[in-house]
Amino acid sequence: MKKIIVAIDGLSSCGKSTMAKDLAKHVGYIYVDTGAMYRAVALFAIKNGWMTDDYIDEVELKRHIRNIKINFQTNDEGTQDTYLNGENVEKEIRSLEVGNGASRISTIGFVREELVRQQQAMGVEKGIVMDGRDIGTVVFPNAELKIFLTSSPKIRAQRRYDELIAKGEKVNFEEVLANIRERDERDSNRKESPLRKAEDAIEIDNSHLNIEEQNELLRTLFREKAF
Ligand code: DC
Repeated sequence: MKKIIVAIDGLSSCGKSTMAKDLAKHVGYIYVDTGAMYRAVALFAIKNGWMTDDYIDEVELKRHIRNIKINFQTNDEGTQDTYLNGENVEKEIRSLEVGNGASRISTIGFVREELVRQQQAMGVEKGIVMDGRDIGTVVFPNAELKIFLTSSPKIRAQRRYDELIAKGEKVNFEEVLANIRERDERDSNRKESPLRKAEDAIEIDNSHLNIEEQNELLRTLFREKAF
């Protein structure tokens, strides 16, 4: 088996991380959730008072961007936690507020430049599964396997709603759906690296696939490229 790079792109809550994590575990690859990295930057900005509902202090953020160190560590349950400058922020970054902040902060060119630099460094030795919005187009344009995952906004909203409720957040479905639509719009139409399907990416619509079917499909595609 040769070591390859697997790039998985798609809109929010379409199941990218579920399939990416399963493949990484199955084949012993590193998994990198780049959305978590944008979320960590948003949390950093919120905590420092540089981001409010309608303002981002880009001057301060730019001055400190190189001081933001993000890494991932496997916890006792075998899942991955996100660390921001040594602090476990996994729970905090998953809120709707931080998700919105991440969508806004990810439109800023210097933020993307820094995170893309960190992501490319993580993939130098290959053997990596990375998910996000620009992995197959910008971060690893030469990735051996590229997936572009889609599913309908309603199905994605239901999945995100179930996830948030299970974590004890008080949300209603309409609010989650509106949030998904707003982020789709921003992630697809921003000037800096908008979500695009790479020409050589394989498109999968998982609206009517269950998790096992989706995982099996990815494992099959991986085998075709890595063996
Ligand atoms: O996948 P997610 O919902 O955790 O991502 C949070 C936000 O980060 C999302 O709205 C868009 C942004 N993002 C990005 O611009 N590029 C990436 N590679 C990953 C995420």
